[in-house]
Amino acid sequence: MRIDVITSSPLDFSTAALVVGCYEDGPDELYSSIDQALDGILTKLASTREFTGKPGSTHLIHTLGKLAPQRVLLAGLGKRGDLDDRRIRNAAGDAVQALRRARIPSFALALQLAASHETALQVACEGALLGSYSFDEFKTKEREERFRFDTMTVLVNRNEEAAWEVAHRADAIYRGVQLARDLVSQPGNVATTGYLASAAHELAARRSLSCLVLEADVLESMGMNALLAVGKGSVEPPRLIVTEYNGAGERIRPTVLVGKGITFDTGGISLKPGAGMEAMKTDMAGAAAVLGTMEAAALMKLPVNLVGIVPTAENMPGGRAYKPGDVITAMSGTTIEITNTDAEGRLVLCDALHYACTHYKPAAVIDLATLTGACVVALGHETAGMMGNDRRLIEDLKRAGDRSGERVWEMPLWEEYGELMKSDIADLKNAASTRDGGAISAAWFLKQFVGQNRWVHLDIAGVAWADKARPDSPKGATGVGVRLLIDYLGGNRYRVPHG
Ligand code: BES
Ligand code: ZN
Ligand code: ZN
Repeated sequence: MRIDVITSSPLDFSTAALVVGCYEDGPDELYSSIDQALDGILTKLASTREFTGKPGSTHLIHTLGKLAPQRVLLAGLGKRGDLDDRRIRNAAGDAVQALRRARIPSFALALQLAASHETALQVACEGALLGSYSFDEFKTKEREERFRFDTMTVLVNRNEEAAWEVAHRADAIYRGVQLARDLVSQPGNVATTGYLASAAHELAARRSLSCLVLEADVLESMGMNALLAVGKGSVEPPRLIVTEYNGAGERIRPTVLVGKGITFDTGGISLKPGAGMEAMKTDMAGAAAVLGTMEAAALMKLPVNLVGIVPTAENMPGGRAYKPGDVITAMSGTTIEITNTDAEGRLVLCDALHYACTHYKPAAVIDLATLTGACVVALGHETAGMMGNDRRLIEDLKRAGDRSGERVWEMPLWEEYGELMKSDIADLKNAASTRDGGAISAAWFLKQFVGQNRWVHLDIAGVAWADKARPDSPKGATGVGVRLLIDYLGGNRYRVPHG
C-alpha cells in the first residue's frame, strides 16, 4: 500500500472512503460537520448504539453525494481522556481491516487528531499499514479476485513536509515488519535454511548490506558443534547467516542482533506431539525479526552500526540426528549434555552468541527467540519475556516496548536458577528436568555464552504468531521485534531522509 500526503480539508477530498476517528464521549468538530452534512445520521447511529465510538468498533456509511468522500468509515477511539498511541494505532488498524472486508483499495485518513496529539500521524500510519497485511500466496482460487490495497492518502491541514517525513518512517518500519511476517508465514518446506540464506542475500543486495553465510564445513572448522548437532537429523544443512549494516562509521561499536532460525521444530528424537506441530514453522520468528530490523534500519538510514546473526537449522529426527545423552562441545569449549533434543533453540543460539561476542566488540547483544513454551504459560500472548544482564539495556528496551506497541516484560535471572542446568557428566545440560521456570532456566543457559557483554534475551514464543486477528496484526505472523528494535535504535526520534 502506497502512502500519499495531501493538504486538504477532509470533507472536500474525493475518495472512496474517508476514515474518521471518533470519540466515545461526545463529538469533535469534524464529526459534527459530517453529521450536519449527512442530515444527522451520526447522531442517529449513536442514539441507537449502532456506533458508539468504543475502541475496536467501526462503521461504514455511504454519503450519497452529500460529501466529496463517497463513504465515511467511523473508527472508535474510546474516551478522550484515555487517548494514547495504542488507541490511535489500533483504531487505524481496525479501520483498514474493515476496508479490506468492504474491498475498498484506496482511501483517505482524516487526521484532525494530529493538532493535539503529537505522535498521532505516525501511529495512525503505522496502524493502517500493519493492519493492511495479508499472506495469500498459496490461495489459488482467490488469485483472480485477489484484493490488494492501493493508496492511503493522509489528509493534513498544515506542514505537509513534516507529515511526509513521518509517513516515510512509518513506511520503512512497516517494510521491515512485512519482511518478517512474510518469512514466518512461509511453510517449512519453502522456508528452509537455504531459503533464509537467500532471503538474507537478497536483503543485502537491496539495501547495500554485507552478507556472509557460513556453510556446514566452515561451521565444523570453527567448532560450532551445538548448531551443527541440531541440524544433524535433517537433509537441510545448518548455516550461520551474518549481515552487517554500517550507518555510524567504523569506530562505533555495533549492536548485535541474534535471531533463532529453526525453520521447523519437530522436537527431534524427543519428538513433539502431532497436534499443533504445524505451528513450529514459526520457530524462525527470531531470525525473521532480525532480518526485518536490518531492512527497516537500512531503509531509514539510521546512524547506527548493526550486525544481524541468524543461526539456522531444521530440528528433525533421523538416523543421523543428535540424541538424548549425547555430549557436545560448543564453540566456546563448554560441554553440554543433551537431555532433550527439543531444547534446540538454546543450542543454536549459544554458538551464535559466542560468535557474536568473539568476532565483534558489541555495544549490546540482543537475541530474539521463540524459545520456550514455559514463556507462553507465564505471560500469554500480550508480551515477550525479557531477561538480561544489564539494567540500562533492560530499561531502554522496556521504554522502547511501551512506545512502539511491542511490549516486553522482565523476568528474573538470578544465579539460583542455574542449579537446574547442572549436568552430572558435562558442564551444563541443555534442558532442566522440570518445566517449572522453564523460560528462565533457558535464559540462564544463554547467559553462560555472552561473557561480560551487555546482553538481553527476548523470548517471543507467545507473540510471534496470533491465533486471532488483532488491530495491528491480522491472524498469523506478527513480525514481532522489528518495531521494538527500531524504536530502541532511535528510529522514532530520528529524521528519516527522503527518497
Ligand atoms: N520452539 C519451542 C518453543 C515454542 C513453544 C515456541 C511454543 C513457540 C510456541 C522450543 O524449541 C521448545 O520446544 N522448547 C521446549 C523446551 C523444553 C524441552 C526444555 C519447551 O518449551 O517445551
Ligand atoms: Zn524445540
Ligand atoms: Zn524450537
